[in-house]
Order: sequence, then structure tokens, then C-alpha cells
Amino acid sequence: MIKSLEKLRLEALGELKQVDELKELESWRVRCTGKKSKLTQALRSLASLPLDERRKIGSLANEIKVDLELRLAEKKKLLEENHMASFLKQEGLDITLPGQLIPTGRLHPVTQALDEICSIFTRMGFQIAEGPDVEWDYYNFEALNIPPQHPARDMFATLWVDSEETGDPARLLRTHTSPMQIRVMEKEQPPIRVLVPGRTYRYEATDATHESMFYQVEGLAIDTKITMADLKGTLFEFCHCLFGEERKVRFRCDYFPFVEPGVEVAVECLNCHGDGCRLCGYSGWLEILGAGMVHPNVLKRVAIDPEKYTGFAFGMGVERIPMLCYGIDDIRLFYNNDLRFLKQF
Ligand code: PHE
Repeated sequence: MIKSLEKLRLEALGELKQVDELKELESWRVRCTGKKSKLTQALRSLASLPLDERRKIGSLANEIKVDLELRLAEKKKLLEENHMASFLKQEGLDITLPGQLIPTGRLHPVTQALDEICSIFTRMGFQIAEGPDVEWDYYNFEALNIPPQHPARDMFATLWVDSEETGDPARLLRTHTSPMQIRVMEKEQPPIRVLVPGRTYRYEATDATHESMFYQVEGLAIDTKITMADLKGTLFEFCHCLFGEERKVRFRCDYFPFVEPGVEVAVECLNCHGDGCRLCGYSGWLEILGAGMVHPNVLKRVAIDPEKYTGFAFGMGVERIPMLCYGIDDIRLFYNNDLRFLKQF
């Protein structure tokens, strides 16, 4: 009996050496240590043996079982490690390779310009306000001192929302952000300092310098004792923040029905520095915004006493600024959504 047990052990260990796959190892386990294995059968048959033999053989059989189980565990670990190593090799996984970059988005160049303009004016104490894109005739024209039939309506090629026949008050897509001057002054009492960024619309054939939708930023300041000097100081400061301290800034008379006097602000050409080139139409100057002192008629309309309060307003096109700064020669590029273009900013 002892001999045959030792033989079982030797055979089993010999077979174990040959095993080189996990599947084979499992069948070895079933065959050599499982319920139906010779070893288990030997352990079971112990009961029929006389006591002293039972002790000797029993402890040997147990020792063999423990031994085989130990070897099994060792072999299993080894095979698993080999398996993982060959798997990694097959996969060609090189953990020293750098990771893949996750593409990150960026802000649209017009959004970047809006943010910069807003940040300059908020530092000067202006608050941001926004208004509707679909506007009443009243706010876009009438309250801004542009009654029906006023020739200044021709300055704004208007996209109307309502047909003229219905007789309802006329609605339109706002042609500028100036209607928000009225909406703000209707609600707030002076002192007022607001900045209004937003979309505006014009009924125009699109070309390199015209889009039917574009952005404007409007500014409005109302208080006692506001003068033209405040307007000039504020806008000079703005131009210097945006285009550099050295940049020359020019004020000239202009006409807008809702301001008196009205001005046009230009900066020295970014391209030729005043010598004259194609960008500035050989004038040396780039016009960037319209402005003026709020017309007394406009103040009266919103029940602000023009004898007590005065104020200034300004409005600028936004796309023009990145166009000038980056030398972009076609406004339509901003709204084509071509990532090759947009990614550059
Ligand atoms: N709203 C005018 C425009 O679109 C600009 C402007 C705003 C001029 C405020 C004077 C004061 O052309």
C-alpha cells in the first residue's frame, strides 16, 4: 500500500512537469487529486484497514495530498504568469508610449473679442445687460428719435418680422444694440453705466465686409455732470487697452439721430501706422465705433430730466476688431464653421 501511494505521488509529479497549459492543469487536478482520483479512493478505503496500518498509511496519504495540492498551486501561479506575459507580448502593449492627447475646444474668435471688450468696460464700472433680438419698432427706431419716414431709417436696412398689413405694432430683428439704451433707462434711474453685447441683423447682401448677422457692443452712461470729456476719456482708454498705449485715436463729427453731438472714433491703422494702405483705404485711419452725447429727446422719452442728467452712448461692431487685429479679410469666415480657420485663434 505504501509503495503504491509513493508510486502515485511520483507518477502525479511526473505528469505535472509535462503540463504547460492551464486547461491541462485542471484535468491533472481532477485526475490526481479530485474525488475520483486513486489518491482519494485510497484515503476512503482506510476505514477498512486495521488501526495501526490506518495511522501510518493515513498520514502518508494525507501528506501526499497536501504535497500535490501545494505543487498544483505553484504550477498554477507559474502558468498564469506565463500566460499574462505572452498575452502582453501578443498585444504589443508598450507602456512607455506617451498617452493619446484628448482634443480640447476653444472659444470662437468673436467670443474672445466680446470677452475682452466686456472685461475692459467692466473694469471701468460698467454692468453687462442683454436684450431681445426680436425688437419693437418703438425701441429700435421711434424712441431713439427716429420716427416713421425719418431719412435715418435708410441707414439701417431692416429685416421685418411682421407684415405691414396686419396693423399690429411692427416687429423687426434689431438693427443695432441701441434699443437697449431705452429698455435700460425705462427700468433704471441714473446713475447708469451699462454695456450691452449682442447679435444684430441687417437686410444686406453678404460680402467680405458685410454679414446679415453680426455682433455689436453698446455702452451707455447717464449721470449728473457727464460731459463730452467723459466720453472721450472713456473711449480713448478703451482704444488704448485694446490696441496699445501708443496707438493714436481720432474723434470726428458724425450723425446719429439719438445723439447730439455725434462722433465717429477711429484708430491709427494697425497695418501701415498712418501711412495709408489698402486696409485703411489709404486714409491711415480705421473707424471702429460710433458715439455721442445722448439726445435730450431720448432722455425725455424715458422720463429722465435732460436739464438734470446728461450721458453718453457708444456702439461698435465686434467682428471688425479681430479682423483688424489678425488681418482677416472676410467676415464670412467667422460663420462658416470651418474648424481649420477657427482653430487658429
Ligand atoms: N447704433 C449705432 C449704429 O449701429 C452706433 C451708435 C451707438 C452711435 C450709440 C451712437 C451712439 O451704427
